[in-house]
Amino acid sequence: MTFLNMILPWFVTLCIVLLSLNYPVRKYCQRRCLASRDISYKGYRFLRKSHRVLGILTIILTFLHCRLSSAGPGMNIGKISFLILLLMFIIHLFRNTMKKKWIILHRMLAVLLWVTIIVHIVQEVWM
Ligand code: HEM
Ligand code: HEM
Repeated sequence: MTFLNMILPWFVTLCIVLLSLNYPVRKYCQRRCLASRDISYKGYRFLRKSHRVLGILTIILTFLHCRLSSAGPGMNIGKISFLILLLMFIIHLFRNTMKKKWIILHRMLAVLLWVTIIVHIVQEVWM
């Protein structure tokens, strides 16, 4: 296994952690009625601003991880995670026509993505 092969999957996981943080951080800021100069609010603004770019970067890095680590053809939990990521991106493109439904779907897919990632990591690291 090359160095990139080892670092990349953990880096992808870190990106997905950052992508997932915008929801709890927003809730925290709202509950505390934080002002825009507060550090947590600034953090939320940064997470929100970088979310789309980070999402696209995550797709590219996951594809790279798949190309470097994949044992070959056939469906497995890692590929399912990748497909969920792609679906999240595609659904986001239709957000204007789907109105409020898209964000609910996006959040549900985020939870599903975490379930598949955890299974994938457990399988690859401990089994
Ligand atoms: C694949 C590329 C992605 C794109 C283009 C994308 C885009 C967006 C957009 C436009 C929003 C709503 C507006 C905003 O808060 O800025 C949003 C919200 C959200 N995204 Fe993503 N996203 C992507 C991937 C992900 C991933 C991988 C996760 C987590 C696993 C995630 C979790 C969330 C959550 C939890 C919200 C709701 C935030 C809230 O309610 O305040 N997104 N996303
Ligand atoms: C630290 C976390 C991770 C570790 C240690 C890890 C490890 C691995 C390993 C060892 C493989 C090769 C499996 C095989 O060929 O039998 C693999 C494949 C793969 N992983 Fe990950 N991975 C991690 C995170 C992720 C994440 C977050 C995603 C997606 C969002 C992902 C998506 C994939 C995909 C699509 C494949 C290719 C599947 C195949 O064809 O075998 N991985 N991963």
